[in-house]
Amino acid sequence: MNILVTGGAGFIGANFCEYELKRHPEDRLICLDALTYAGNLASLEGPLKAENFTFIRGDIADRAMVDALFEAEKPDIVVNFAAETHVDRSVTDPEVFLRTNVMGTQALMDACRKHGVKRFHQVGTDEVYGDLPLDRPDLFFTEETPLHASSPYSASKASADLLVLAYARTFGLPVSVSRCSNNYGPYQFPEKLIPLMITRALSDQSLPVYGKGENVRDWLYVEDHCAAIDLVMRLGREGEVYNIGGHNEKTNIDVVKTILAELDKPESLIAFVTDRPGHDRRYAIDPAKIHRELGWLPQTDFADGIRRTVRWYLEHRKWWGDILAGEYQDYYRRMYDRR
Ligand code: NAD
Ligand code: DAU
Repeated sequence: MNILVTGGAGFIGANFCEYELKRHPEDRLICLDALTYAGNLASLEGPLKAENFTFIRGDIADRAMVDALFEAEKPDIVVNFAAETHVDRSVTDPEVFLRTNVMGTQALMDACRKHGVKRFHQVGTDEVYGDLPLDRPDLFFTEETPLHASSPYSASKASADLLVLAYARTFGLPVSVSRCSNNYGPYQFPEKLIPLMITRALSDQSLPVYGKGENVRDWLYVEDHCAAIDLVMRLGREGEVYNIGGHNEKTNIDVVKTILAELDKPESLIAFVTDRPGHDRRYAIDPAKIHRELGWLPQTDFADGIRRTVRWYLEHRKWWGDILAGEYQDYYRRMYDRR
């Protein structure tokens, strides 16, 4: 099979390319990525050596290019990771989120319709459900939870999900959607909580925790997410949504303290800073459907996953050092200086 992976030079996409090549060496992967600030060919070092892997630089919203690529590569499955993904950036610059996450998804689906693609899989997020209160640990997001996005990022992802399901109903496009909780692991850009805290702690810099650090996220090791997507795009029922998560809820402050303990760094590095506007309180996934229908269960618990992640950043200083040496410094100043 020919599988088109969009956004494959990003965090989850790069892990997914590695996973697919190992798991399904009989398939051919075509990776389409615009190489925005978040895309990085250094994350695809392994896949780029494989004969059945092709990288193409391009924008999913560029309809002419997408059409020509579908004509040439004839994908059987399209799995769409390409997106603007950082909530804080969506607060300062929402427009590009709508262009890529909504219009880009639509451009891909129009090409899927025209070229008779057998499955379009949309990689979605649990953020489309909004948030849960901190004092109701009995509540979880199911696939039936109403969409209730809080940030321009999550609103753009919710819009994309609605469009995907509308294309299934109106045009009969064979689609599936997965909605996952927070991922962590190798190759995550150091704007997100875990790599930001690891890389700053390693340089003895302050660790900016929003508000009181009481917000809760439901952490999933990235390889477990890749395994779930692989199952859904191949075996999941058409037109269905699958939630992905592993009941791994942690407060932000607990995550940061765990990282400090792993690195043997003092908690005095923690600095509580002004909260994120509209900050979602708690995310928590009910993954019963994907377990029941596809037998998926996460394999990595948080203690093991965070140890592996910290070790990866320790052993790959060049990967994140190159990022920190670029325009990242400006980004960090813009985002954190007056906080
Ligand atoms: P990321 O920001 O690390 O990577 C995004 C990739 O998309 C980059 O390689 C970037 O260059 C590429 N891209 C951006 N705009 C593009 C465009 N117009 N055309 C082509 N490529 C473009 O993101 P990630 O964390 O790997 O997330 C991947 C997907 O998974 C996203 O759709 C995101 O919403 C979803 N998701 C992420 C998480 C998480 O915790 N990271 C959880 C659930 C769902
Ligand atoms: O739930 C899935 C989502 O998880 C994905 O759809 C998003 O693409 C991904 O970015 C992530 O969103 P979050 O907003 O939860 O991730 P982030 O790493 O930005 O923040 C995690 C928590 O940590 C959140 O409560 C905000 C807090 N935080 C974050 C940063 C960057 C801090 O306290 N300090 C920080 O500097």
